Amino acid sequence: MKRTILLTGRTGQVGSELLRLLPAIGEVVAPDRHELDLLNPDSIGRTVREIQPELIVNAAAFTAVDAAETQEAQAHAINANAPEVLAEEAKKIGAAVVHYSTDYVFDGSKRTPYEEADTAVPINVYGKTKLAGEQAVQATGVPHLIFRTAWVYSTRGRNFLRTILRLATEKEELRVVRDQFGAPTWSRAIAEATVKILAQLTRQDTSATNSFSRVSGSYHLTAAGETSWYDFAGAILEEAAHLSPAVAWFEEATRGRPLITRRIIPITTAEYPTPAARPAFSVLSNSHLIRTFGVELPHWREQLHLMFEPERSSQIR
Ligand SMILES: NC(=O)c1ccc[n+]([C@@H]2O[C@H](COP(=O)([O-])OP(=O)(O)OC[C@H]3O[C@@H](n4cnc5c(N)ncnc54)[C@H](OP(=O)(O)O)[C@@H]3O)[C@@H](O)[C@H]2O)c1
Repeated sequence: MKRTILLTGRTGQVGSELLRLLPAIGEVVAPDRHELDLLNPDSIGRTVREIQPELIVNAAAFTAVDAAETQEAQAHAINANAPEVLAEEAKKIGAAVVHYSTDYVFDGSKRTPYEEADTAVPINVYGKTKLAGEQAVQATGVPHLIFRTAWVYSTRGRNFLRTILRLATEKEELRVVRDQFGAPTWSRAIAEATVKILAQLTRQDTSATNSFSRVSGSYHLTAAGETSWYDFAGAILEEAAHLSPAVAWFEEATRGRPLITRRIIPITTAEYPTPAARPAFSVLSNSHLIRTFGVELPHWREQLHLMFEPERSSQIR
């Protein structure tokens, strides 16, 4: 009998990739926001009871970091309350939970990669709501995997890569922050790593809950390596310059216009004020993930290159 998996966030960067890959391990039921509104706890309970999944994968979130500063109640409802209700409902029916969190739970004061055991001290509302979500899932006692990822980009949605490509069609010079460091991570790599891990855990003929119980906890899951937004922007334009033939997502991101940027100027965070503060350093050590599951994500530069390869990206819908 096939396992039933309830997936949230099917239209998102990570969720859309999971929607393609999760059928390898089970039957996926993936309601969109209209069918399951995470702002409505009753509808969460009703949906979980109806579907009776063995596994819930929560890829939905309020991810607009700056908007969260002024929309705290909504960000908290989606990032903290909804995961708590999903986890409580999962526990009631003996299901396990996969939940995603962020490098922005850290304040950025370290200069070596953050470990899972490091104290999380978020410096913006988004980070606070995501940390509250992690803690709420843990507190229910449901068997769970929390994957903290970072600097997510994809061919769709709102992300740094697509913003740089659009700006590169408009401006000869771009000014990009060089004093924030992280690991840009392709949403497909996150989905591939997730599915590899879930395949390991569901391979045995035991229930997902039993195999999850042994490894329940938080894991850092990001691209290997680290870079600044400035260097990431440079690498994006380098890949774009070598892209041939053009691919559909790129044509859409650039609206078919030529790239005219000649120069990227490094600036400081202080020169680019934003409503939400960002950690200066949020590189995450993936050692725990590698030790536990033997799964290692490629270096960020390699992931970026793969996304620009027409054969790879043509599979993206
Ligand atoms: N983006 C990043 O840079 C980043 C960095 C670190 C960690 N993460 C974490 O990684 C995970 C995936 O992020 P992502 O970038 O893939 O997110 P995303 O592209 O912003 O997608 C968010 C998804 O959540 C759905 N959603 C939002 N509000 C909802 C509601 N009230 N009810 C139901 N669904 C709702 C959205 O639906 P609609 O399309 O209908 O809005 C969308 O499918 C999240 O946990 C995020 O916190 C992201």
